[in-house]
Amino acid sequence: MQILGFKDYQQQGKRLAQALGLEYLEVAIHHFPDGESKVTLPKTLDDEIIFCRSLDHPNGKLIELFLACQTARQQGVKQIALVAPYLCYMRQDTAFNPGEAISQKTIGQWLGQLFDRIITVDPHLHRIDDLNQAIPDSEAISLSATKLMSEFLASRPNPPLLLGPDSESKQWVKQIAEHTGLEWEIACKQRHGDRNVEIILPEIDFKDRLIVIVDDVVSTGRTIAQTAKALHKRGAQTVNCLVTHPLFTDDAEQVLTKACINHTWSTDSINHRSNVIQLAPLLAKAIKQ
Ligand code: R5P
Repeated sequence: MQILGFKDYQQQGKRLAQALGLEYLEVAIHHFPDGESKVTLPKTLDDEIIFCRSLDHPNGKLIELFLACQTARQQGVKQIALVAPYLCYMRQDTAFNPGEAISQKTIGQWLGQLFDRIITVDPHLHRIDDLNQAIPDSEAISLSATKLMSEFLASRPNPPLLLGPDSESKQWVKQIAEHTGLEWEIACKQRHGDRNVEIILPEIDFKDRLIVIVDDVVSTGRTIAQTAKALHKRGAQTVNCLVTHPLFTDDAEQVLTKACINHTWSTDSINHRSNVIQLAPLLAKAIKQ
């Protein structure tokens, strides 16, 4: 078995290969001037391979994975797995207006037809609770980074209060609280647009408290920023945040800085300077099972 990585996700691919004691090889990508991708696989492949690449900025990466997977099949590879710690298109799980694509279902079906096994971490499942419902044609494995996040928080000097910014975050906040014994609360979020969210904090005393906001994704940063602003208004002493998938689109970093977040911590699901938790041991354990 070999791990096939990509230049933009090289460190994580190599760490996974090392954790498994497997050979790391790289898929070469050339971008033509018009934006098309040329995908070249290593010359010699085993019967079983694992592609390792997170699917943030997904559109180009999905096409490249499709080309890589089909080429590997044409070369005779029998078992192909995908390790994508961040799995894209999971948030659009229903048609909110007539004609809208239910991306979770369509992309899930497509990936399931391509790969024999798909491993991801804390996918954003809202209206379903089993990843196999989104990816029916493959062995779909959903891991959770909450234990690693708990260990990280337990190594910090002062115990914080954990706060989830919305009802969807409850699943992760609750698990971390169970592992660490930390206090936790959940706020209420109303989303009015991609960059417009309103946060209503629970009616407890935040004065002089150390708070860690916990969420699965930071994308535009508005959810975390609005939560932090509300906490500061209520007298919180320090606000930090811990997220699984640091997407950080556009001006998200500045938005968080302006909201007076002291530290942002994340897993290495996506490359970002906030990465403090490596997922390789978790992923390797799941692959070995
Ligand atoms: C959605 O409910 C997710 O859990 C995150 O809260 C959301 O994706 C964060 O997005 P943004 O950073 O754009 O507010």
